[in-house]
Amino acid sequence: MSEDTHQEYDDGLVAVLEAVWGEGFMSPGGTDEVDRYLHDIDLNGLSVLDIGCGLGGVDIHMVLQHKVRKIVGVDIEPELIPRCKRLAQKYNVVEQTEFLCVEPGTLPFTDASFDMVTSKDSIIHIADKHTLANDIFRLLKPGGWFAASDWLAGYEDRPSPEMKDYLVAEALDFGLASADGYRKALNAAGFIDIEVVDRNEWYCAEARRERDQMRGALFDGLANQVGKEFMEHEIGVWEKMIVALDQGQLRPTHLRGRKPV
Ligand SMILES: C[S@@+](CC[C@H](N)C(=O)[O-])C[C@H]1O[C@@H](n2cnc3c(N)ncnc32)[C@H](O)[C@@H]1O
Repeated sequence: MSEDTHQEYDDGLVAVLEAVWGEGFMSPGGTDEVDRYLHDIDLNGLSVLDIGCGLGGVDIHMVLQHKVRKIVGVDIEPELIPRCKRLAQKYNVVEQTEFLCVEPGTLPFTDASFDMVTSKDSIIHIADKHTLANDIFRLLKPGGWFAASDWLAGYEDRPSPEMKDYLVAEALDFGLASADGYRKALNAAGFIDIEVVDRNEWYCAEARRERDQMRGALFDGLANQVGKEFMEHEIGVWEKMIVALDQGQLRPTHLRGRKPV
């Protein structure tokens, strides 16, 4: 790892995210959202790359429910990899999964290695969408799909003051793009059948439900684990996120594109 690598998703944050979003997940909607963005893609017997695998929930789900032959999850945070491996053991999918820590940048796989590349709410961390789209295109076999979800910007140039406020509160290394930005990057890389499906309306309601759970049923258990102050802080982040969602500045979105045969 490079010397400036630091743990953005520390144990406290991971504990809160997993409690709110479900076992193995650091992103909203859990397995239902994965099924929605995959919808008609048949993964039976295919090889898949998952960029930003986090705790491995997406990967385990794709083996158990979508019958992938092999899924390789990569993440830049070394502390998360053993957690993915433990989850794979728990669900008896060690043979079909591989989890690797990688450096940010070009992914360490040869051209045309995968039938599908996926990512759930992780490529928000990769600011250069053109370079990312080119790398995903390179890694796919002809006819292969890129199918993912991500947090998109509802603005082209500057965020609203409230969105800025939310981004500062998150304090994560984000590089958001708009739907148009993603379309351009995927198109320029050579993808066809590009689809961008906005999920803002769904998450506006869902985020309120999550915030209420954090204030209610989840509060005491999590406060014991991560401290009351951190819980109050995270609820504050959710409040700011809800404003950004309501303004349409933050837009959870499903993305897909296919490499021509
Ligand atoms: C919001 S979490 C989502 C994790 C997982 N996909 C999920 O849905 O639960 C984002 C993940 O992306 C990882 N990440 C950030 N930058 C990355 C990069 N350049 N390459 C791969 N993973 C990255 C983070 O370490 C984190 O685990």
